[in-house]
Amino acid sequence: MRAHEAGALHAEGYGGPPLYLPYPTDVNELLAVLWPATVDRGADGVLTVGGVDVVSLAREFGTPAYVVDEDDFRARARAFRDEFSAPFEPVCGGVDVYYAGKAFLCTEVARWVAEEGLSLDVSTGGELAVAQRAGFPPERIAMHGNNKSVVEIEQALSYGVGRIVIDSLEEIDRIDTVADRLGVVAPVMIRVTVGVEAHTHEFIATAHEDQKFGLSLATGAAAEAARRVVSHPGTMRLLGLHSHIGSQIFDTGGFEVSARRLIGLHAEIEEEHGIVMPHLDLGGGFGIAYTSQHTPLSPAELGEQMADLVGREFKSLGDGDGTRVPKVSIEPGRAIAGPSTFTLYEVGTVKKVTVNDRVTRAYVSVDGGMSDNIRPALYEADYSCTLASRRSEAEPMLARVVGKHCESGDIVVLDEYLPADLRAGDLIAVPGTGAYCRSLSSQYNHTPRPPVVAVRDGHARLIVRRETIDDLLALDVG
Ligand code: LLP
Repeated sequence: MRAHEAGALHAEGYGGPPLYLPYPTDVNELLAVLWPATVDRGADGVLTVGGVDVVSLAREFGTPAYVVDEDDFRARARAFRDEFSAPFEPVCGGVDVYYAGKAFLCTEVARWVAEEGLSLDVSTGGELAVAQRAGFPPERIAMHGNNKSVVEIEQALSYGVGRIVIDSLEEIDRIDTVADRLGVVAPVMIRVTVGVEAHTHEFIATAHEDQKFGLSLATGAAAEAARRVVSHPGTMRLLGLHSHIGSQIFDTGGFEVSARRLIGLHAEIEEEHGIVMPHLDLGGGFGIAYTSQHTPLSPAELGEQMADLVGREFKSLGDGDGTRVPKVSIEPGRAIAGPSTFTLYEVGTVKKVTVNDRVTRAYVSVDGGMSDNIRPALYEADYSCTLASRRSEAEPMLARVVGKHCESGDIVVLDEYLPADLRAGDLIAVPGTGAYCRSLSSQYNHTPRPPVVAVRDGHARLIVRRETIDDLLALDVG
């Protein structure tokens, strides 16, 4: 945002609610698509999750806190494993689902993922260390990263991960050296930049060679990577190609273009080297609803559309009977972790600000902010929220929920209607915070990071504890 000499009122324009946010008839109502499956408002008006009310959660664990509905997380994992996978059965025998741990990972979540029969995508040695501590089966781990260190490659190969996704030509030499030293054959895939950049509502073909990930299909770098991998049979085995075209995608059009190009290259590489590549990874990126403006497809709908397009592409190559169609894998992170979690905050101050002669906005300050959810500041991400600790009969007021950090961009929920009698001590819940909130969190302003509390069947337990001031000071060795 730029400064404007006529002042903020002029620069901001109308300043009223966005089009997607209607004036509510009942400010207590919950829009089901935004909330974990077991969330409900009890008879007393208090929000409950997994049979536990949020007032008790706040009393026991404090605020802010990330609250994850374990059943909801597991059900979303199973929906990808079963419903997304089913339409792929006749095409390639189903899909392998790699949960993208960058969305949120701790040892308990790694165990849920393993128990639900999913595989795991890790993107650093740190994420791999969490998986190792959880005892995650190594053959079901994919190791990512555009700049894997030799130490990380060694960690992955020593643990025996099922695939390393190669992201550069130099990495091939590094893997060769480490695999040779360890006396192993590294199972590898090649991350291909397919020339498709997916956005929520559009995709722009060709516009995004100019980024750091993958090896370009257009310039021949991906084909060259395959040549180099194949020329080191003693240290590397080429499992197949990988592409990931973006995140928070609602339209399968981008996947269609990307799959077509990827499958074309897959066929060329098999032909050139006389090899069979048994896998094809289409990445993650499936969108979720943060507010009523988002309308995500279900895993079943996504699976049907994607199985159809993969099936069609291989058929056009003459391999449509499934005999040589590689096993497809996907890497959803947000769509599993995101909707399973809400953040619980306590309201501190409520300040009414006159925006212009038509709009008054209530700035509701809570006890967290950009340190526990940087996404509004980083991506202008929209969120929604509700008064969670009671029901209110007051009129709705246009509100902006803000944090306690020293930045005016410290926004938690840009626009929401909250009841006009909102006051200090009320609890607010912000849904959709399970992905890329704890994992992108910081200690900005020396703020200890919130705990993650898992709730299931009437019981709540810590799976990541709250940081303390002592934790923060422990790193300060001066
Ligand atoms: N696979 C690969 C190779 C990825 O790079 C990613 C995400 C995923 C899978 C999972 O994508 P998902 O299904 O979660 O959209 N911090 C951003 C998102 C960054 C995504 C990075 N890569 C955010 O908060 O929106």
